[in-house]
Amino acid sequence: MAGFLYGASTASYQIEGAVHEDGRGPSIWDTFAHTPGRVRNGDTGDVACDHYHRWAEDVALLAGLGVGAYRFSIAWPRVVPAGSGAVNDKGLGFYDRLVDGLLERGIEPVPTLFHWDLPQALEDEGGWLDRETAYRFAEYAGHVAGRLGDRVHRFITLNEPVVHMAQGYAWGTHAPGRTLGLGALPVAHHQLLGHGLAVQALKAAGAREVWLTNNCTPVWSADEDRAAAAVYDGFHNRLFNDPVLLGSYPEFLLPGLEPHLRDGDLDIIRTPIDALGVNYYNPTLVGTASDGGDLPFEIRPVEGYPTTAFGWPVVPDGLTELLTGLQETYGDALPPIYITENGCSAEEGVADTFRVDYLQAHLGAVRAAAEAGVDVRGYFVWSLLDNFEWAEGYAQRFGLVHVDFDTQERTPRDSYRWFRDQCAKTSSS
Ligand code: BGC
Repeated sequence: MAGFLYGASTASYQIEGAVHEDGRGPSIWDTFAHTPGRVRNGDTGDVACDHYHRWAEDVALLAGLGVGAYRFSIAWPRVVPAGSGAVNDKGLGFYDRLVDGLLERGIEPVPTLFHWDLPQALEDEGGWLDRETAYRFAEYAGHVAGRLGDRVHRFITLNEPVVHMAQGYAWGTHAPGRTLGLGALPVAHHQLLGHGLAVQALKAAGAREVWLTNNCTPVWSADEDRAAAAVYDGFHNRLFNDPVLLGSYPEFLLPGLEPHLRDGDLDIIRTPIDALGVNYYNPTLVGTASDGGDLPFEIRPVEGYPTTAFGWPVVPDGLTELLTGLQETYGDALPPIYITENGCSAEEGVADTFRVDYLQAHLGAVRAAAEAGVDVRGYFVWSLLDNFEWAEGYAQRFGLVHVDFDTQERTPRDSYRWFRDQCAKTSSS
């Protein structure tokens, strides 16, 4: 696929470490990981891949891979340690050096501004339950663009607002660990409002492109009718795609959202984006709830497919289904798509045939979607390095590059060499 952009992705809290360095403020993930019982084995991101000190080595690994772009995230608490107010020049300085290092190697930096590490000070005021956080996010986006915008041309606002809402505020399995169930809905609206305000701030600062990265899943129905599946689709996919692309929320969610909606919010949220980032891991099988709880659906296991080390089903065709489905649903309102994450956890060794097969099949699925007419322009592997896998700590390994967390030694896996060959084929075609 000529002109297709290959990349690799990471996120700040998952790789950087150096949590007390150069004026970084605490984030909700520092608090969560240091709360006993929250993360497997008591792991934390205090050191992670020590990327804050080893970034040059990691940029060299990216260069060896031959990717055209690197998607990383910027830690809000490094840039604005208290979430609002004073800007930390040293924090911005780190990303400044990283961006220059990437550009020297011919790799385009594609930073995400929020990959879940909210400054703790903002959480203390209510986090994303509080509308004010949206405005603080846009201010922070403006600071980043002011410093990096002369060299960074594409920014991503949020990573997977659905996962942050669900796991962080509804179920409590991620930071900030709140268990509000449906009471988490305002978190969706405030993140989306923050997204729209940030698009405007970034564009005002001269950004050429702004993307939003959503986690999307094809929803399979376990029932004859799709009633329960449609509700799940509404929560997981449409709640985050409809307002951005169409300027409206799914109707059945309005009663929960309306108390938080103000005039003009939806216009801000649908400020045009230049691409939709899609993170795909697996389809979701949904049936009618059997427990009579708040929600009419329940998630069932997808059976009959191989599974990753995490136990997630491997369904490459699901990615084609997802992309063609987005095209059908949104038509002309759908901007170009980049797969901003796709990958798998697999066992630790460097001979990772499982991952090579996984990536090959998923790239094939992207190709099939392109042939079916979807404007999909790039594919970023999750992840460059083994890293801090949230509630799983270091127990799940997603890297093209193996990391020995005792010595910080990096060892490229077979999948690294395989992906390098893919990138080389495209740049020579
Ligand atoms: C997240 C990553 C995470 C990956 C694998 C995505 O939901 O954006 O941060 O590591 O999935 O779980």
